[in-house]
Amino acid sequence: MPLPTVVVSRQLSPKMWNYLSTYAHVVSWESDCPATHEWLLDGIAEAEGLYCLLTDQIDQDVLRLGKRLRVISTMSVGYDHIDIQACTSRKIPVGYTPGILTETTADLAFALLMASARRVVEGADYVRQGHWAEWKPDLLLGTDVFGATLGIVGFGRIGQAMAKRAHGFRMKVLAVRSPRQNREESALKDREAMIGETAEEPSVTFVDLPTALAQSDFVSLHVPLTPDTNQFFGRDEFHLMKPSSILINTSRGTVMDSDALFHALQDGTIRGAALDVTDPEPLPASHRLLTRPNCLVIPHLGSASTATRSLMADMAVQNVIAGLSGERLPYCVNPEVYH
Ligand code: DGY
Repeated sequence: MPLPTVVVSRQLSPKMWNYLSTYAHVVSWESDCPATHEWLLDGIAEAEGLYCLLTDQIDQDVLRLGKRLRVISTMSVGYDHIDIQACTSRKIPVGYTPGILTETTADLAFALLMASARRVVEGADYVRQGHWAEWKPDLLLGTDVFGATLGIVGFGRIGQAMAKRAHGFRMKVLAVRSPRQNREESALKDREAMIGETAEEPSVTFVDLPTALAQSDFVSLHVPLTPDTNQFFGRDEFHLMKPSSILINTSRGTVMDSDALFHALQDGTIRGAALDVTDPEPLPASHRLLTRPNCLVIPHLGSASTATRSLMADMAVQNVIAGLSGERLPYCVNPEVYH
């Protein structure tokens, strides 16, 4: 019996490649940059499994040509790049990597908060550029983190992990949970029960978005990208924030209106922003946001620790193998395909 074909849209580590190869004939994109959509469309007809990343658009075209697909697995917790509805109507289970990247991503969000509050990158640049001639009482003054108020918008796993870090700094935490997120929370709890893992909720005050924005010194976005959250943070939201406040985004770039952010940073509506995700992504070096010294941008590094990325790849391969074997995916976005 020939092995089923699995299309893999990025080079796997030798360990993961060997593991997957015992179950499948692996057809892999051989470069370190994202696979092109054309390559995906060319190869998908033979594929029974697809291992993809958040840089691939798994749209109607891929699904139409991928007639033999029995499983799709993304090496990410976000799945906004996949047409889940279309997969579900085709009864294709979609795997993802929830839970294991929570702490790593919250570490990064908190690092951005600290770095922007205390102007760490500006300070490092100042030294590197040879400006450090003397100690000055007013050099690169920042904002205190200890005891400040943090607004967490989107209180899923990563938002909750952010709150735990904030408690260590005696911050007051205001959490915003949208009706949509309430629905997703209960779905999340079902999934957590399924994978035997529950999130512990630290003590926070739940408020509505305008209250969180008006009272917070830092606002950190942790909402998934959905039609409800696409561009939900715009001019009005920036104008509700304190002029002294800092925005942190580690969710998805398109939840926020980039033009509105630029103007808010330029005209002093807010003090600063620290972004791990942008719109567009990657952000071109010529983008006007990068002309703002009060805007710190890093290249989507939320889950980028060696251990976490390796666990994510492992989880994504497990999902593919389960799907090929006709078993329920251990980490499934659309478990309704099994009903
Ligand atoms: C995800 O997994 O969705 C993150 O954005 C990258 O790790």
